[in-house]
Amino acid sequence: MFQVNSNYLKLKAGYLFPEISRRVNAFTSSHPNISLIRLGIGDVTEPLPNACREAMKAAIDEMGTKDGFHGYGPEQGYSWLRETIAKEDFHSRGCEVNADEIFVSDGSKCDSSNILDILDRKNKIAVTDPVYPVYVDSNVMSGNTGELDKLGQYGGLIYLPITADNGFEAKIPDEKVDLIYLCFPNNPTGAVATKIQLKRWVDFAKRSNALILFDAAYEAFIQDKELPHSIYEIEGARECAIEFRSFSKKAGFTGVRCAYTIVPKTLYGGSNAGNKVDLWGLWNRRQSTKFNGVNYIVQRGAEAVYSNEGKREIANLVGFYMENASIIRRELLSAGLTVYGGEHAPYVWIKTPKGTDSWEFFDQLLQKANVVGTPGSGFGSAGEGYFRLSAFNSRENVLMAMKKIASI
Ligand code: MLT
Repeated sequence: MFQVNSNYLKLKAGYLFPEISRRVNAFTSSHPNISLIRLGIGDVTEPLPNACREAMKAAIDEMGTKDGFHGYGPEQGYSWLRETIAKEDFHSRGCEVNADEIFVSDGSKCDSSNILDILDRKNKIAVTDPVYPVYVDSNVMSGNTGELDKLGQYGGLIYLPITADNGFEAKIPDEKVDLIYLCFPNNPTGAVATKIQLKRWVDFAKRSNALILFDAAYEAFIQDKELPHSIYEIEGARECAIEFRSFSKKAGFTGVRCAYTIVPKTLYGGSNAGNKVDLWGLWNRRQSTKFNGVNYIVQRGAEAVYSNEGKREIANLVGFYMENASIIRRELLSAGLTVYGGEHAPYVWIKTPKGTDSWEFFDQLLQKANVVGTPGSGFGSAGEGYFRLSAFNSRENVLMAMKKIASI
């Protein structure tokens, strides 16, 4: 009999969000007349920016002409988009990122998983706890971990707790680490990192010849001008970090799909034969073989994010969700809850009331307030006792959800 990838059998029962959907579906089928307010998965709700829609419509029409038709595009993305990204997202902040170091893709979730294709199985991997579950699950699927233990942690991974006790700042590991996942603004805690904090990670990575996998999918939500948006704002990061960026949350592209990953040409890892190998070459090879690029229409839509109209609309969109986050913070604080995050991130991280664990709080909110959130323990064992609410929803729903939560 053929064999399956048994690493999949090590995974926890379900990926967090499908598991939440399963519980929510069970609730709605027994309470068909109750409508729920969903502040669980961070999925955007507001319409696509007009600038992006118009650019995509024009691209469709162009594709309908003999001269404007586009077949396979470059696997790495069209140069006009990569050049725009380099200028607008990096050069404008003083970062050295060249257009050919930008790989346009269909999502950061995919890229942050696929990157494992070019990394060895023997690397020592560190993740924060709580953490975006994809980093852990993709390592389990790739066979980079042992079994799940009673704490809900996988053998072989190094877990770095981030809780209120350490201000949601992971301690630099004492042990040898080859690969470290960092996410700022953080999903799920909403914490942000200063340049000084990021510099510590970059220095650590350089000292230990480690690679930082830096997820900046939420950078657009940073409100403080002094905070870094990119790891490449830190000197030395070009020698130790890959960065993931996404149009999903900032431009409402969760259903459109466009993101990009930066692999600097100055980044080297070791091979089994003891040679230095450039990661850019491997990632380029990987993408050219396994990926056919993002479609032309979507890339034109992504390019419009950087037009004057696009910038204005995106500032409004981000401002709208951040106003939701500040309403959530304010209302929960006045309801007597302890809250974190939500100031530079679209996620508010709540301490569950004493004696109530994360899934109990999930059930209470579901059943009594008809609000769906995400239990902190779903992001890791150190997330137990916390709960995440997403600011991605209409103003009406956010206000209603807060009213209902305050009344329980
Ligand atoms: C989340 O809710 O954590 C995000 O929507 C997940 C994702 O971006 O894949």
